[in-house]
Amino acid sequence: MSRWRLRRREGILFRHPGNVVEIRRTRNGNGLFAAKRFQANERIIRIVGKVVSARIVTGTGGTFADNCFRCGPETYLDPGEEAGAYLNHSCEPNAYIRKSNNQLFLAAIRKIRRNDEIVIDYSTILGDDDIWTMRCNCGSTRCRKTIKHFGSLPSLLKARYVERGAVPRYILETLS
Ligand SMILES: C[S@@+](CC[C@H](N)C(=O)[O-])C[C@H]1O[C@@H](n2cnc3c(N)ncnc32)[C@H](O)[C@@H]1O
Ligand SMILES: [Zn+2]
Repeated sequence: MSRWRLRRREGILFRHPGNVVEIRRTRNGNGLFAAKRFQANERIIRIVGKVVSARIVTGTGGTFADNCFRCGPETYLDPGEEAGAYLNHSCEPNAYIRKSNNQLFLAAIRKIRRNDEIVIDYSTILGDDDIWTMRCNCGSTRCRKTIKHFGSLPSLLKARYVERGAVPRYILETLS
């Protein structure tokens, strides 16, 4: 049996170059999984893609808008078919988005074990001027059911994310 078919049997659809993450099926379509252990705050991958304007994102909508990452006051990153396009949301995330040197990185909030799904809280990259919402099916006992802009989070959760450095500055700057 070929290595590829063996991987298919293990449920691995695609392994990211560098062998740090892989794509597998989840309760919410495809998702990103850890192919190795990560320590808290460790960088997992760079979110690569094409920078697009807010006007393009809102004008296009659909899956395209669903997959874009806010990356500045008026800009988003379209991950195309790259790993970022498979990053799911959880109301109990183990990772977050960090901007450094004008690039977006996925980093661990806490220790992540090999084979864990890597998930972020989408609200941490939704500014108060973002109208995007999602019905959540993360399965956590802390599930908020509807995912919206950062300002919609309970105060304690907002404070915890900010304290951990899990909210990019350009998102905080949208808060009224
Ligand atoms: C960046 S994509 C993630 C990859 C996606 N699961 C796929 O198979 O293409 C974002 C989309 O995944 C789905 N999704 C991610 N997290 C979810 C969650 N917790 N509950 C329900 N749907 C989710 C939503 O359709 C969302 O618009
Ligand atoms: Zn949830």
